[in-house]
Amino acid sequence: MNRTQLAEELEKRRIFGIISHPDAGKTTLTEKLLLHGGAIHQAGTVKARKNSKFATSDWMEIEKQRGISVTSSVMQFDYAGKVISIMDTPGHNDFGEDTYRILTSVDSAVMVIDAAKGIEAQTRKLFAVCKMRGIPIFTFMNKLDREAKDPLDLLSELEEILGMPATAITWPIGSGMNFQGVYCLTRNEVYLFREKQTIKLGDQGVFGPELEDVITINNLKALREGVELLEGAGYPMDEELVLSGELTPVFFGSALADFGVTVFLEHFLQWSPAPGPRKTADGNEVDPLSDRFSGFVFKIQANMNPAHRDRLAFIRICSGEFERGMTVNLARTGKPIKLAQSTQLMANERANVDSAMAGDVIGIYDTGNFMVGDSIYTGKDRIEFEPLPTFPPEIFSLVLPKDTMKAKQFQKGVQQLAQEGAIQVYHNEYNETVIGAVGQLQIEVFQYRLENEYNALVRMNPLDYTLARWVKTGSEDGTATPDQLDHLKMKLDGRTMLVFDRFERPLILFANQFALTYFKERHPEVELLEATEV
Ligand code: G4P
Repeated sequence: MNRTQLAEELEKRRIFGIISHPDAGKTTLTEKLLLHGGAIHQAGTVKARKNSKFATSDWMEIEKQRGISVTSSVMQFDYAGKVISIMDTPGHNDFGEDTYRILTSVDSAVMVIDAAKGIEAQTRKLFAVCKMRGIPIFTFMNKLDREAKDPLDLLSELEEILGMPATAITWPIGSGMNFQGVYCLTRNEVYLFREKQTIKLGDQGVFGPELEDVITINNLKALREGVELLEGAGYPMDEELVLSGELTPVFFGSALADFGVTVFLEHFLQWSPAPGPRKTADGNEVDPLSDRFSGFVFKIQANMNPAHRDRLAFIRICSGEFERGMTVNLARTGKPIKLAQSTQLMANERANVDSAMAGDVIGIYDTGNFMVGDSIYTGKDRIEFEPLPTFPPEIFSLVLPKDTMKAKQFQKGVQQLAQEGAIQVYHNEYNETVIGAVGQLQIEVFQYRLENEYNALVRMNPLDYTLARWVKTGSEDGTATPDQLDHLKMKLDGRTMLVFDRFERPLILFANQFALTYFKERHPEVELLEATEV
């Protein structure tokens, strides 16, 4: 492709992730979007995957059979000339560091909120990651066919709880039994829920006569009041603020009834960004239209078949074109790697890809070359993208090999599993292994795989800590001197524990927020860091 063709293709691409609290309707909305795009032909396809609520061992069986995760993939579909990729963000019991990290590879996010519940815990955590990256966030208030909170209160929640000003693009007309449709402020149209009809409004908008015999008096009154308030006190739509992640456009609807979804999708495609330049570690940017191929690994998915210890490395292509069989350089080692086997993941199938370009996500079969966060590129000058952040684990466990004769397998297994980035590995003062994860499933998967793939039986001793903080030591590499460590140890009590990461940087584990606050008050001289980079 020449530069003009590449630019045209790039402009069509959209990569986004959906953030939500479990049960808000992410799966249902994903499915409706895929149906609109013709990527699946039957409702229930995505749902069937999500409902695979098995015990860990059964879950492993499924992974084995399919060779890939049933719980995470990229789903691509076409709509109105655009090529749209939804990155699945695992949310239920498979919520983990991966979920956070996937958000470092998307260009925008869709936040699905259950309109009866408002903003919930997991949404808040995922929102924080998007906010940190300054990516555009589009909000879909779901389940209007059920009794919902007042729409103005929902907008206030966005601003008060998330600190995110919101601008309504569609507005609900009633909810639950009285749900009659949504009004689109940009198009000046009303979509009727039961009648599946569109009413074009005149110059007076909702204050004109068109709606008078169509919706109930109460709903019309509330709609007019709502619109009046939005016009007086609401935030106007501002594309620049949306693009910089400082204003979220809000839509109302029902994913289940596939209502309000098309109007949402069309606005989303209009305002969401095509893949842009990506920052490098040295502070420069890589232009997606560069003729040099570059990309980074944001997720590694293990093949659960112990006979083949290969894995699938998910790569977000940042510039240029990919061709199967091409040789790239791995920035971390400086060594060339041939990308022989590639795949693109769809909702219900995997297809081999021969070529792909900036703005696409591909999976590369890997025999252990890649680590999460790795950059790859063609050409002479080294390209290394800025490091992906690590996210603080919330669950910790001491891991002890049952058979000390197998210490080598144990170490190898721990190291390789840590490379995949689903768990963090630390050690304590006695050189025992401590792992940390964001979700419980990662801990279980870790144990299962150590035992099944590396033949290292382990004893897991769950630890009563929920928070981890790095200790700022002042040294360049973050390590502490023996003196510093001695001082630190004197400050620890039963609700804290000292561990070290793989760079020997000290961290303190705390039982809970209370223990952390208490520690900070007693030892203000110890500077604690919430996050560090991989
Ligand atoms: P998630 O991926 O965010 O966890 O949520 P999911 O889409 O699975 O939806 C959770 C539940 O909410 C499902 O019900 C789903 O049918 C329902 N739901 C999603 N969108 C809407 C909506 O717009 N209106 C209403 N009324 N319900 C909605 P379930 O009982 O758990 O599953 P199912 O038995 O209905 O499949």
